[in-house]
Amino acid sequence: MASYKSPIVDIHTHVYPPSYIELLKSRSSIPYIRSFPPSFALRLVILPAEDTESTSRGRPVGSEYYDINKKIEFMDTHSIDISVISLANPWLDWVPAAEAAKAAEGINNEVNEECGKFPGRLFAFGTLPLSGGKEVIVKEIARLKELKYMRGIILGTTGLGKGLDDPELLPIFQALQDAKLPIFLHPHYGLPGSVWGERASDYGHVLPLALGFPLETTIAVTRMILSGVFEKVSDLQMILAHSGGTLPFLAGRIESCIEHDAHLKAEGKLGKGRKTVWEILKKNIYLDAVIYGEIGLKAAIQASGEDRVMFGTDHPFFPPLEEGGGKWLSVETNYEAIKGELGSGSEEAKGALGGNAINVLNLRV
Ligand code: URA
Ligand code: ZN
Repeated sequence: MASYKSPIVDIHTHVYPPSYIELLKSRSSIPYIRSFPPSFALRLVILPAEDTESTSRGRPVGSEYYDINKKIEFMDTHSIDISVISLANPWLDWVPAAEAAKAAEGINNEVNEECGKFPGRLFAFGTLPLSGGKEVIVKEIARLKELKYMRGIILGTTGLGKGLDDPELLPIFQALQDAKLPIFLHPHYGLPGSVWGERASDYGHVLPLALGFPLETTIAVTRMILSGVFEKVSDLQMILAHSGGTLPFLAGRIESCIEHDAHLKAEGKLGKGRKTVWEILKKNIYLDAVIYGEIGLKAAIQASGEDRVMFGTDHPFFPPLEEGGGKWLSVETNYEAIKGELGSGSEEAKGALGGNAINVLNLRV
């Protein structure tokens, strides 16, 4: 009998396509890329917290950030059959309004073409020209729907500048629902620097990445829930980065706070027709499995269901600190969590590792 390996799909994996890198190199404020003499090595600075001497100004940016062949090399090293690539943060959030439409069109076409170089192995989440205004955004959604390898869009938490509970976003969510393009929600901005205290710079990237990122996602989705987005655009589909931040763990508390809020009750917002946080988690939300531990993964599975959780790597972020090839600890940790929680070789593990993504995102050519 021919041996059969179930496919492994990475739905959380980023690129900065070459034209985006060029854009960043032309800039001197965040986000930007430049070298800091006497070194010639290029560094990527995307977060305010890393634009300081003490954090050595950002991170080294090598070809793994922009060369699609490096993505395939990484996939082969980690037995990943298919990747759904997305532009890394901060996307096009910072692009001046007048340039947004052209920038998004160029980047999305470029990413789609890169996928076409490896048919069947690469798909993508597109990027929206958020600063360009509603018409430009809706037009790009319609265009993305026609691009062969696009399977959704990646979105940060600021939306049009006022967060994802902004009513101005409803037509955009509606257009995404109508186009059947899920939103891959990804953090970037974290929490205000003041919450990390005076010694924050002693602790490297740990506080903003381990806590700021997941809390940013949790707050953004909770605001969407509170504003009624999931009742108004009832089939909107979202894939939340980092297993939903802390949403699965806090869902009960959020739901209880809603049920006990006199203001919401007085406004008639607790009546029939309200979707509970639990219902939203099971109907509108998918979670990646980028959580690096069995307990977090268990919470994600219990919250949304084992058919709604999907493997990811966050490549090219979190490379091993030691130089040299081979497998990445960050990736292996996520593999181990899936195997530990769902059982090595089980149908559920196969789903989380790839089957769910293939079904949900229609990853067949
Ligand atoms: N750091 C980032 O800026 N983005 C990621 O996706 C992961 C780590
Ligand atoms: Zn990421």
